[in-house]
Amino acid sequence: MKYALITGASKGIGKAMAEILAAKKTNLLLIARSSDLLETLANKLKSTYQIETDWLSVDFTEDGAATKIYQWCIDKNYSIDILINNAGYGLSGKFEGYTAKEHTDMMQVNMNVLVALCSLFLPELKNAPKGHILNIASSAAYQAVPGLSLYAASKSFVLSFSRGLQYELRHTNVRVTTICPGGTETDFANRANLNEKARKAGTKLNMTAEKVAHLALDAMFAGKTEKITGFVNQIGAALVWLLPKKLVEKTAAGIYSQD
Ligand SMILES: NC(=O)c1ccc[n+]([C@@H]2O[C@H](COP(=O)([O-])OP(=O)(O)OC[C@H]3O[C@@H](n4cnc5c(N)ncnc54)[C@H](OP(=O)(O)O)[C@@H]3O)[C@@H](O)[C@H]2O)c1
Repeated sequence: MKYALITGASKGIGKAMAEILAAKKTNLLLIARSSDLLETLANKLKSTYQIETDWLSVDFTEDGAATKIYQWCIDKNYSIDILINNAGYGLSGKFEGYTAKEHTDMMQVNMNVLVALCSLFLPELKNAPKGHILNIASSAAYQAVPGLSLYAASKSFVLSFSRGLQYELRHTNVRVTTICPGGTETDFANRANLNEKARKAGTKLNMTAEKVAHLALDAMFAGKTEKITGFVNQIGAALVWLLPKKLVEKTAAGIYSQD
C-alpha cells in the first residue's frame, strides 16, 4: 500500500492538496505542527473517502525533524510514492528586524527539511512503479524581494535545487515538479506579518488555496518540471527577465518593504 506524504498539511495549500488527493482515493500521511488540525483532517478524510490516513506533529525547526518523519514511516511500515514538500513561511520587513535564529529557523523549514526529505525518501520513490516529488516554491523565487529578502532567496533555492534534481532523475521513474504560486488566500500573510500595502495588492490578485492545489497536483501528475500558478503570476515572472533588476527590486520594495 502506497501513501502520499504532505508537509504543511494542516492548513492552506497543503490541506487543499490533501483534500483533492483524498477524493482521488490516495492514502495520506499528513505532517505539520498543529496536531489538533492534523487529527481532525485525517479523521475527516478517512471517513469521507474510505482511505488510509495518519498524521505526525513535527516542528521542522527542531533538530532531526526529517529523520523523525522518515523513522516514523519505517516504524509504521508506511511506504510512499508521492512526497509533497509544502511546509513553509515568510518573515516580512527588514532583515535586521529578526534575530539570526529566526532567520535560520525559516531556512530550516523552507529549505533544509525539504532537502533532507528528498534525500531520505528518494530510494523508496525510485523503487515505486512511479514516484513524484512536488516542491512548493513561490513566484518570489524569480527575483530579489526587499522586505521578504530571505524568504525570496529560500524559494529561489527550492526552485534551483528542484530543477537540478529533476534533470538528474530524468531517466528514472521519479519526476520532480516545482510549483511557484503567487499570492494565495491562506494564513501566509498573517504568519509573514505582511504590511497593509502587500495585503491590499493581494486582495485583487490572490488565488484560492483550492485553485493553487488543483494546478499543483495537475502539474505533478502530468510530470511537469515547473509551474507558475495563474496568468498574472506568469506575466510577472516573464517581466522580471525583461526589466532591469533595480526596477524590479524597487517595485517589489514598494509593496513589501516597510520603509
Ligand atoms: N500563500 C501564499 O501567498 C504563498 C505564495 C507563494 C508560495 N507559498 C508557499 O506555499 C506553501 C504553503 O503555504 P500556505 O500559503 O498554505 O500557508 P499556511 O496556510 O500558513 O500553511 C503553511 C503550512 O506550513 C506548516 N508549517 C509552518 N511552520 C512549520 C514548522 N516550523 N514545522 C512544520 N510545519 C510548519 C504549517 O503548519 P503548522 O502551523 O500546523 O505547523 C502549515 O501547514 C509554503 O511553502 C509557502 O511558502 C504561499
